[in-house]
Amino acid sequence: MPEPASAHEPYYGSAAPLVPASGDLPAVASAAAACEACHLWLCGTQTVFGEGPADARIMMIGEQPGDKEDLAAHPFVGPAGAVLDAALEEAGIDRKTVYLTNAVKHFKWEAGGVGKRIHSKPNRKEVFACKPWLDAEIALVKPDAIVLLGTTAAQSMLGPSFKLSQHRAEFLPFSVAPFVLATIHPSAVLRMPDREKRHQMRDEFVRDLKLVARMLEESPKRPRAKLALDAVSLSAKGFGKIDATMEP
Ligand code: URA
Repeated sequence: MPEPASAHEPYYGSAAPLVPASGDLPAVASAAAACEACHLWLCGTQTVFGEGPADARIMMIGEQPGDKEDLAAHPFVGPAGAVLDAALEEAGIDRKTVYLTNAVKHFKWEAGGVGKRIHSKPNRKEVFACKPWLDAEIALVKPDAIVLLGTTAAQSMLGPSFKLSQHRAEFLPFSVAPFVLATIHPSAVLRMPDREKRHQMRDEFVRDLKLVARMLEESPKRPRAKLALDAVSLSAKGFGKIDATMEP
């Protein structure tokens, strides 16, 4: 039985040495299944790797698996996933065509009484440790558009100084994909207590997803060249570097 994150001494590292030098998504997923790059492997039930077509045009990146995802080993199958599914449908994006993943692949939680596991936000060192898996997914899928769902995903890719409040719904000039856009995390909709504001948040989330759908309609699918994973793991070592003095 896994234990809450607070039960373990932090063990901070990087998954970079664990990313296989070659292989496809299943090979990387199977390496990630044994990841112990940070202490969260002791906390979550299992690694929840990304899922979706290997040639998906859109990759969506969330924060970390939730309680349901941790047990099912699939991303976005819980309440936030339901909000995402409805928004995708309204935006005219078929979930089956999207590669869905998370910045952190293990569920971080704290005990919340009567067997409840309460989501706990991953810190920068945990996000950093997990980043090479995300880099490998991006290198293999080579999506045309990356949608960053919430601050953790956005800062994982764009750096800790990225402010979602300032750059939400902008197409960001970032070489990792032709179109990179950050928007809210679907769980923000769930957390909004005010009904009217909740509906507004949801509408704005759909509006952001529609921007991506429209952009892709207007742009040709880019050719997919095979990318060597050894290059990924090398670049992953420096990619998204964090300041060692930064507080988690
Ligand atoms: N929240 C996330 O960020 N990812 C999931 O997979 C589920 C909930």
